[in-house]
Amino acid sequence: MCGIVGAVAQRNVVPILLEGLQRLEYRGYDSAGLVVIQDGQLQRERSTGRVADLRLKTTGTHGTLGIAHTRWATHGVPSERNAHPHLSNNLIGVVHNGIIENYESLRTRLSAAGYVFTSDTDTEVIVHLIHSHYKNGASLLDATRTSLTELIGAYALGVIAVDNPDQLICARRGSPLLMGVGVGEHFIASDVSALLPVTNRVIYLEEGDVAEIERQSYRIFNASGAEVTRPVQVSKISNESVSLGTYRHYMQKEIHEQPQAIADTLESVCNSTSIIPGIFGAEAAASFDAVNSILILACGTSYHAGLVARYWLEEIAGIPCTVEIASEYRYRTSVPNPKALVVVLSQSGETADTQAALNHAMALGHVHTLAICNVAESALVRLAKLRFLTRAGPEIGVASTKAFTTQLVALFLLTLVLAKQRGRLTEAQERQHLNDLRHLPAATQKVLDLEPKIAKLAEQFATKQHALFLGRGMHYPIALEGALKLKEISYIHAEAYPAGELKHGPLALVDKDMPVISVAPNDVLLEKLKSNLHEVRARGGELFVFADANTHIRSEDGVHIMQMPEHAGYLSPILHTLPLQLLAYYVALQKGTDVDKPRNLAKSVTVE
Ligand code: G6P
Repeated sequence: MCGIVGAVAQRNVVPILLEGLQRLEYRGYDSAGLVVIQDGQLQRERSTGRVADLRLKTTGTHGTLGIAHTRWATHGVPSERNAHPHLSNNLIGVVHNGIIENYESLRTRLSAAGYVFTSDTDTEVIVHLIHSHYKNGASLLDATRTSLTELIGAYALGVIAVDNPDQLICARRGSPLLMGVGVGEHFIASDVSALLPVTNRVIYLEEGDVAEIERQSYRIFNASGAEVTRPVQVSKISNESVSLGTYRHYMQKEIHEQPQAIADTLESVCNSTSIIPGIFGAEAAASFDAVNSILILACGTSYHAGLVARYWLEEIAGIPCTVEIASEYRYRTSVPNPKALVVVLSQSGETADTQAALNHAMALGHVHTLAICNVAESALVRLAKLRFLTRAGPEIGVASTKAFTTQLVALFLLTLVLAKQRGRLTEAQERQHLNDLRHLPAATQKVLDLEPKIAKLAEQFATKQHALFLGRGMHYPIALEGALKLKEISYIHAEAYPAGELKHGPLALVDKDMPVISVAPNDVLLEKLKSNLHEVRARGGELFVFADANTHIRSEDGVHIMQMPEHAGYLSPILHTLPLQLLAYYVALQKGTDVDKPRNLAKSVTVE
């Protein structure tokens, strides 16, 4: 989703802006642009396509104040004229992330006042609005603040004026934005990774904050206009953790980081023989005592993690659980149960639908709320009463991998805490589960060692148009996740079904051109799954089975078995995710797609 970078410095900021944009590429975008003040003029360059194209266009551009943007089209097609920054009368420049809901009425008003619109974007109303106040004598800060009172919607903004070459104004409401603090220079960005080459000292702006930034100083005002102090924090994200190293793609790197990410996420329990509610926050014990059901809200891959958790929560903790797609829940008339624990799952913590769903739940009277999230400073973490931070580290590839498996680890911990509180866990069982969790990093590493075999298997998918994924029980959501990964990055149409549903429809599609990928853990449903696989084979379908060590399913003509190193019991969904991630990755390599930045998709969907 859109990315913003801005800088006010004593040196030329164009390389800083370009490097920042490049580092925000993973968020997803279709065009990019920047504007600096050069020789007393606003010097703007924009291009559709990659930041690399913008770099070529800006070889002669320089300036000590500038703002830059990667755009993900919402209002208006991806094109150069719609790319940011937008300008008003060659005086004001603006970059914007978010959506302005009342842009049509503002556009009508501003057009009547003589403003000529040169794009189809909602953003252009902001720049003309600021201009309309600025030309009447308001300071840039006040012109921006007055304009914000007229906007309905979400925004993160960077604003500059040509006759004010030492000042950068920024603001946020509903979209992420932070400030970077350097020595004699300051920056803004959508996330910290963009600024790591220049500083790791950051200020996380809060909802409704507006800041006036100069080289040596800055002032921050809160939503009610009062000047406030926000802490300068030293980001723990290192430059190294966002660099590719020897890997070919971030997705590959992040798949391989899973043993470490899981180990880090388990840190709070690594040396203990028992598990306590406090790992979810100081008030967790009281909340967990008060609740009688769980409502999980999430989008995309995070939603799939929620679906797995439902099996665990009901079976191990004996607590009713529903899982809902956030964008559906927020608009549905549901029957609230104030005694439910609302759990929001999100890698980024900035997904607009998940935020809106949590706000909706709170408006309905839900008071017990928990965010399981990978970004400590995110909106969701701030909003929820309880929190658990997964420790996956920055995830750059658009297709989520290590964030998913660490979410599962967090959800399993939640299951254990709730089971224990409900008297459903003996000490011996608790110890066993904790031992199994501690073994996970080693177990996931063994699965990753299958990589060369999976890469070979993937060659058979190069010419396929469709694929069907099957799973049963708690592995059905893993089949969903495998299908999602494959379609996201290889553009092969993939669907997932609970294997028992095969004969109620999808079997009609099975022929030699439709590969069927099945997750076959060694559990109570194995024999049933084997019958489903026979149904496929009998129709000429080619089978690719990820089978546990002693499932006794053998490779034969048309049946390709990938033997998993071990069976992990309840934690098996985590292990079975890995080969499906690798399969999607290697099929995408076969297809030659842009693995880390698949077409039309964004990492962090901060608009509805
Ligand atoms: C986007 C990403 C997915 C992600 C989903 C939810 O669609 O491309 O990878 O699963 O958003 O994101 P969240 O940050 O809330 O987990």
